[in-house]
Amino acid sequence: MSLSGGVLAVTLVGTITAGIVAIASVVAIYKCAKVAVKVYLQGDGGSLHRVASAVTREPGSSGAAAGESDDAEMGSMSYFIEDLQRERPVRFSSQQLRAFTRNYAHKVGSGGFGVVYKGRFPNGAPVAVKVLNSTLGKRAEEQFMAEVGTIGRTYHINLVRLYGFCFDAAVKALVYEYMENGSLDGYLFDPPPERKVAFDKLHEIAVGTAKALRYLHEECAQRIIHYDIKPENVLLGAGLAPKVSDFGLARLCDREDTHLTITGARGTPGYAAPELWMPLPVTHKCDVYSYGMLLFEMLGRRRNLELGLHGRESQEWYPRWVWHRFEAGDVDAVLARAVATGDKKERETAERVCKVALWCVQYRPEDRPSMGSVVRMLEGEDQIATPLNPFAHLAAYNSGAALPSGDTTTTSGSYGSSGHALSAR
Ligand SMILES: Nc1ncnc2c1ncn2[C@@H]1O[C@H](COP(=O)(O)OP(=O)(O)OP(=O)(O)O)[C@@H](O)[C@H]1O
Ligand SMILES: [Mg+2]
Repeated sequence: MSLSGGVLAVTLVGTITAGIVAIASVVAIYKCAKVAVKVYLQGDGGSLHRVASAVTREPGSSGAAAGESDDAEMGSMSYFIEDLQRERPVRFSSQQLRAFTRNYAHKVGSGGFGVVYKGRFPNGAPVAVKVLNSTLGKRAEEQFMAEVGTIGRTYHINLVRLYGFCFDAAVKALVYEYMENGSLDGYLFDPPPERKVAFDKLHEIAVGTAKALRYLHEECAQRIIHYDIKPENVLLGAGLAPKVSDFGLARLCDREDTHLTITGARGTPGYAAPELWMPLPVTHKCDVYSYGMLLFEMLGRRRNLELGLHGRESQEWYPRWVWHRFEAGDVDAVLARAVATGDKKERETAERVCKVALWCVQYRPEDRPSMGSVVRMLEGEDQIATPLNPFAHLAAYNSGAALPSGDTTTTSGSYGSSGHALSAR
């Protein structure tokens, strides 16, 4: 009896202990979940949640986030799960887009993929609605959703956020965060006085843009090649913080033919790497090349090719002009355009940008640096070796020669064929 009583007692104690452990585990899991919810709502997930709320709530409603009080925390679990599901962009109907844009009343601009309109969510948050051109109609819905899903899962402070999309019989569109300060081209090419910025600011924009590309190339679960880096695709937010737009679009859409000089090529002429229009393998290094072209335009505060303007220098392809000055040991001539003041630090920064630009546009993709290396060189963390001549393959053309007039074939805002194109003829 006493033995079985002992067994009973041991069993009872065991059961009670197991019960306590189980309860403690449940409490611990619950507490972890609470912390996770808080962290998530304070991070990027919070902004996703706010956007989702902006779409579904009436203007003026409180929009109180989950997690504001302890009482709300169990409720916030369901928000958490909802937000996880919302890692994919929100799907809108064409009627909703018409309401957001007030029947497409405010056109912001247009490009190779379609037309951009300004709109507002019901809570007043501004959005940019990009209505994609009709060639997209051939694309299957699942493929569109998969690629929009990839774009929507990329989060970086220097990338424009994709809030949602529309895919119905009549309208294919993407809904992005709206960038109040427009695109970088407005600050580089004949800007009005209020848009003239110091070179240090351009350097900051260059670093932010490089970080976005580093993320797309090196840090994303699935590498994304942009294919269309140029000033129009660097948008500027508060304090001119740069955000790269249109990443992932090359896979999503076929561009309109008017944007291209060479059938089947991707990117915008003047920025597109040689391998994009020649039968050569294409890698993420094509973005490094386009990024280098963008750096030249920051240095010169001009388009790389300005045909039709008077003056020999302006008709010469600017990157090659920079190389000749650099080769001749006359970097000052290059810096004079970039830096208005005699500020020594700013001039050093501009010289770094000049060398990085020359490295980025090397003819052979393998000679171009990775975007991670670009960031380090621009920030002064890495020494920059003396660049090689990126235009050696153009030797047949005499160094000072202007590009032949008539070597222009594209729409305004884009270049004619770059200097590289000459070598292919
Ligand atoms: N999210 C946005 N917020 C504010 N302005 C935008 C936004 N997206 C685009 N824009 C503006 O609309 C213009 C047209 O954009 P769009 O992307 O259609 O053409 P693009 O950038 O000139 O060429 P591409 O089609 O090669 O990207 C841009 O130059 C930019 O100034
Ligand atoms: Mg664009």
